[in-house]
Amino acid sequence: MTQLSQPSRLAGKTAIITGAARGVGRACARLFAEQGADLVLVDIAGDLPGVPYPMGTASQLEHTADVCRELGSTVLATKADLRDDAAVRAAVDSAIGRFGRIDVVVNNAGIAAPSGQPVHRTSPEDWQLMLDVNLSGAWRVINAVGDVMTAQRSGSIVNISSTAGLVGYRHFAGYVAAKHGLVGLTKAAALDLAPLGVRVNALCPGSIRDAESVEGVMLSQIARALDVPVADHETTFVAAQPMNALVEPEDVAAAALWLASDESVRVTGSVTTVDGGFTAR
Ligand SMILES: NC(=O)c1ccc[n+]([C@@H]2O[C@H](COP(=O)([O-])OP(=O)(O)OC[C@H]3O[C@@H](n4cnc5c(N)ncnc54)[C@H](O)[C@@H]3O)[C@@H](O)[C@H]2O)c1
Repeated sequence: MTQLSQPSRLAGKTAIITGAARGVGRACARLFAEQGADLVLVDIAGDLPGVPYPMGTASQLEHTADVCRELGSTVLATKADLRDDAAVRAAVDSAIGRFGRIDVVVNNAGIAAPSGQPVHRTSPEDWQLMLDVNLSGAWRVINAVGDVMTAQRSGSIVNISSTAGLVGYRHFAGYVAAKHGLVGLTKAAALDLAPLGVRVNALCPGSIRDAESVEGVMLSQIARALDVPVADHETTFVAAQPMNALVEPEDVAAAALWLASDESVRVTGSVTTVDGGFTAR
C-alpha cells in the first residue's frame, strides 16, 4: 500500500539559526532539518563576559549540527558573537559561499541576564550588553542578509522576542526594553522589505521549559534573577500561564517553522504569542 507522507515543508531552503547550540535554537534546527532545510547554525559557543551563566559551548553547537546531519541536512556550524558586526557578516558570507542563498533566518540568540535589579540600579554596562545582544544582534543579522534576500526577492525572517516584548516584568528593564525593541524592529523591517519580497515576523514565547533534550537553561536563570527558588521554579512559572503548562521548545520551533515556510506566504509584520495564554489577561 502506498504511504501518504507529508511533503517536506522546507525542502530546498537554507536557514540561518542563531543561538543554535542549545535550547530553542536547537529545537528549531532539529525541526527544520526534519523538514528538509539545509542549515547554517550560529552561536557564540563560548563565554560572554557580563552574563552570569554559561553560554552554549562549541561541543553543544557540534552536537546540534550532528543531530541535524543525521536527519539528512547539510550543515555549516559557525562560531560568531552577534555583538560583532564583522563576525556576523563573515557568518553570512560563509553561508552564501556554501549554499549560494539564504531563505530563512531565525534570530533566536538571546541572554536573560544580567538582570534582577530595578531599573535605577541597572549599570550602564549591563544595559548596553542586554540591548547589544537581544536587539542589535538581530538587527546586525537582518542588516547583513538584507541585500541577499532582496536580490532573491524572497526570504523569511523570524525574530524570537518574548512576552517581555509585549508586557513589562519587574527587575528586567533591559530585557523588556530589548524584546519590545525587537517587536518594533520586526514591524519596521517588515514594511521596508515587504515590497522586495522578504517577510519579517516575531514570536513571543512565554516561559519555556528547560528541556533536557535541548539542554535548556534559561528559565532557571530567570528564576535565579527573580529570587524564585530554582528547585521548584517550574511550579511558579506554570501558575502564571493560564493553560497550566510551560511552553516546550518544540512549540516555539513549530511556530517558527510555519513562519519560515511558504505556508505563511502572505504573513509579514505579525507578532504571535506562544505563551499558553499569559498575555491574554
Ligand atoms: N527560555 C525562556 O523561557 C524564553 C522565554 C521567552 C523568550 N525566550 C527567548 O528565546 C530565545 C532562546 O532562548 P533559550 O531559552 O533557548 O536560551 P539559551 O540560553 O538556552 O540559548 C541561547 C543561545 O544563544 C547563544 N547566544 C547568546 N548570546 C549570543 C551572542 N552574543 N552571539 C551568538 N550567540 C549567542 C547562547 O550561546 C545559547 O546557545 C532567546 O532570545 C530568549 O530571550 C526564551
